[in-house]
Amino acid sequence: MGKKIRVAVIGSGSIATFRHAPEYAANPNVEIVAFADRVLSRAEKLADKYGAKAVDSHAAALKLDVDAVSVCTPNAFHAPITLDAFKAGKHVLCEKPMATSDKEAREMIKAAKKADKVLMIGHNQRLMGLHVKAKELIQAGVIGKVVTFRTSFAHPGPESWSIEGATGWFFDKKQAFVGTMGDLGVHKADLVRWLIGEEIVEVAAFVEHINKPMGDVDDNAVCLLRAKSGAIGTLTASWSHYPGEDNTTIIYGEKGQIRLGTDPNYSVVVHLLSGEKQFYSVGAIQTNDSGGQTSSGVIDAYINAILTNTEPPVTGEEGRRSLAVILACLKSAETKSFAKVDI
Ligand SMILES: NC(=O)c1ccc[n+]([C@@H]2O[C@H](COP(=O)([O-])OP(=O)(O)OC[C@H]3O[C@@H](n4cnc5c(N)ncnc54)[C@H](O)[C@@H]3O)[C@@H](O)[C@H]2O)c1
Repeated sequence: MGKKIRVAVIGSGSIATFRHAPEYAANPNVEIVAFADRVLSRAEKLADKYGAKAVDSHAAALKLDVDAVSVCTPNAFHAPITLDAFKAGKHVLCEKPMATSDKEAREMIKAAKKADKVLMIGHNQRLMGLHVKAKELIQAGVIGKVVTFRTSFAHPGPESWSIEGATGWFFDKKQAFVGTMGDLGVHKADLVRWLIGEEIVEVAAFVEHINKPMGDVDDNAVCLLRAKSGAIGTLTASWSHYPGEDNTTIIYGEKGQIRLGTDPNYSVVVHLLSGEKQFYSVGAIQTNDSGGQTSSGVIDAYINAILTNTEPPVTGEEGRRSLAVILACLKSAETKSFAKVDI
């Protein structure tokens, strides 16, 4: 085995704790060098656990001898930290949503090219077994041409997940830029684009703050999406599905439907017009609750892209196009009209 990839994790909250840190530690090609957080004690906690250094800023992390970073901070800092990391010659795995505007996303992609480094975005839904199986079935033509779809990502809110709780950045527009649409909606925008293999070109949406007593970001969104081929569907993102989670997608084609995450025993269920039913158990949806127990595959894919000098499974451009869908939804909600997606 060659030299290990030396990594710093920037932002030492929940996604760093439950996904990035354990998955780096489990990868034999990685040495975790440092954790950074603006609250030093959070970085220290992970540094102690993984035998790494703790620093109190991304700038300090970038000065260390590291090859690659994970950006696990609030959304508003994704682009500035990523740009600094490329300037310092590091590879970047950036959490979603990758940026707060199309301009920022394009700058990140440009900076990665200039630095000749990997830029991957943490859209882990694509890597889940049930979604990989569904894409395979759709590509094989099992349900024929896709006509409609519906996808939903909803839970009781990030206050029980975030290290900052109910008073944290998730509810603060300055740091989060959006609420449910950045936390959940962008995941499903990415999933649908990838599953049906085409771009979303037009949207209409309600993106609203109607439930949470705290904060100034959207806590519910219901969106209509139109794909390039004319297929239409809905995307729902909510922080007020009490007490439980809805993380399901159904794709309806001319010859039948594929149901994802709707059956407790089979993560993929195919119902065909012919009457035939197919059932697959190909791994449950990875949720925040199960985050520590199952590997997302995100970290291994990132490290593999660095080691093999190949494109990661979710490139900056893919992250930008998924972000563009939610930016169009925000525009639609603001202007109370249909909005084109900037692809
Ligand atoms: N891919 C996924 O499924 C998934 C799941 C959850 C969160 N996320 C994303 O991960 C990111 C972090 O979310 P989280 O759930 O870990 O939040 P969190 O609130 O648990 O942790 C965020 C941490 O970032 C630190 N921080 C804030 N600004 C910083 C800065 N400028 N430099 C260094 N550290 C800073 C905070 O002190 C905090 O410890 C978000 O962008 C979120 O959307 C992705």
